[in-house]
Amino acid sequence: MVVGTGYVGLTSGSSFAELGHNVVCVDIDERKINQLRQGIMPFYEPGLQDIVVRNVKERRLFFTTSLSEAIKSASVIFIAVGTPSLPNGSVDLSYVEQVAIQIGKNLIDYKIIVNKSTVPVGTADLVERIIKENMTDKKVSFDMASVPEFLREGSAVKDIFNGDRIVIGANNLEVADILMKLHEKLNIPIQITDIRSAELIKYAANSFLAMKISFINEIANIADGVGADVIEVAKGIGSDKRIGNQFLNAGIGFGGACFPKDVKGLIEIAQKSGRTLPLLEEVIRINDNQYRSVINKLLSVYPDLTGKVITILGLAFKPNTDDMRDAVSISLVRSLFEVDPSLKINVYDPIALEAAKQVIKGNVEYCNSIEEAISNSDAILIVTEWDEIVEFDYKKNINLLNNPVIIDGRNCLDLSGGRIDGFIYRSIGRKPI
Ligand code: UDX
Repeated sequence: MVVGTGYVGLTSGSSFAELGHNVVCVDIDERKINQLRQGIMPFYEPGLQDIVVRNVKERRLFFTTSLSEAIKSASVIFIAVGTPSLPNGSVDLSYVEQVAIQIGKNLIDYKIIVNKSTVPVGTADLVERIIKENMTDKKVSFDMASVPEFLREGSAVKDIFNGDRIVIGANNLEVADILMKLHEKLNIPIQITDIRSAELIKYAANSFLAMKISFINEIANIADGVGADVIEVAKGIGSDKRIGNQFLNAGIGFGGACFPKDVKGLIEIAQKSGRTLPLLEEVIRINDNQYRSVINKLLSVYPDLTGKVITILGLAFKPNTDDMRDAVSISLVRSLFEVDPSLKINVYDPIALEAAKQVIKGNVEYCNSIEEAISNSDAILIVTEWDEIVEFDYKKNINLLNNPVIIDGRNCLDLSGGRIDGFIYRSIGRKPI
């Protein structure tokens, strides 16, 4: 049984079904459950619909709103509900707590209960306590475990089947053994550890990756100052295996549901244990300011932005998702209007336009194609490196623009073969063209 049909719950639940297990996914949202039964996905994720539809058809995957029914036949329960940030940066565990109460009230025989959501160190103990408090039959036993999820949105299904490792946090070998069997067909190396270490591994992994991005963004800003090329620098350092070449793409900064939340979450975990994490505080500060480098580049081309038309290409926090959580485009638009309220901003995203309408405020024109978005524009700001945006023939369409200016916030355009001839081109940590 998997509780929660968000990115983590739905992809893990349907993948377990794909491995041959019988899975019931539970969610309190009736509309979502009805749609999932009909094969309609609650969010855009490549490849997910295929495995959901196939496993529903083959009767290995079921959806229900009734936790009390689903729990009867379950031997392992994954808690995969949302753990958003509270305004003060700490993790909101209220959904996890609600699920723990429900599990407690409905527990009639032995289960393994696994935290799959990203939760602060010590949450397994909290869930255990809540379940015990709410159990009607105090003699029933259960074990807690932690199996953190490392999937990336946009390649979640691929990541589940091709992960680098599975981390299983369990406090006894019998539980670890059952959870190993559950995952064994994936053929991915498994690390067995204690629950608290498993909980910390998730935060440490995401914080380290976020730190790599802020590091290369700092190097990009230095490269701008000294006339070096950050792509060359990233290649040069990344080919050292000790450093590794991934997550060294300089750009407008990281967003999404995980990195900003998890780095802040780890800082809070440190504070609660009487320590500080100045390194990670700096990672966040660098990231919060990184979008300004795009605005500064725009201002270096146009010191006066009065009445200008600006096009933003890509709104989602990264390609292949419609997720707008902590997307840099939100701060970018807000800040552009602060710099000059007379701006006209056209935006385009292949998938995230509807989601963006809920969170991007101000006088923004939502466009249905790149051509429409760049028509009569004075500058294109590339924020998300969707294939369609990367591969677009800017040179062929140069006449649509009022002024041929591209600020590439993802360093994603191919500059070879005269592809941007005629444009004023600025990117992050590379020489101006
Ligand atoms: C991340 C982790 O990668 C995943 O393991 C974890 O479990 C969940 O959080 P996700 O947030 O889906 O996944 O996206 P990811 O591909 O990691 O990108 C996060 C952000 O960093 C995006 O905004 C992306 O544009 C940015 N990024 C990534 C960079 O700016 N540069 C890079 O080199 C890599």
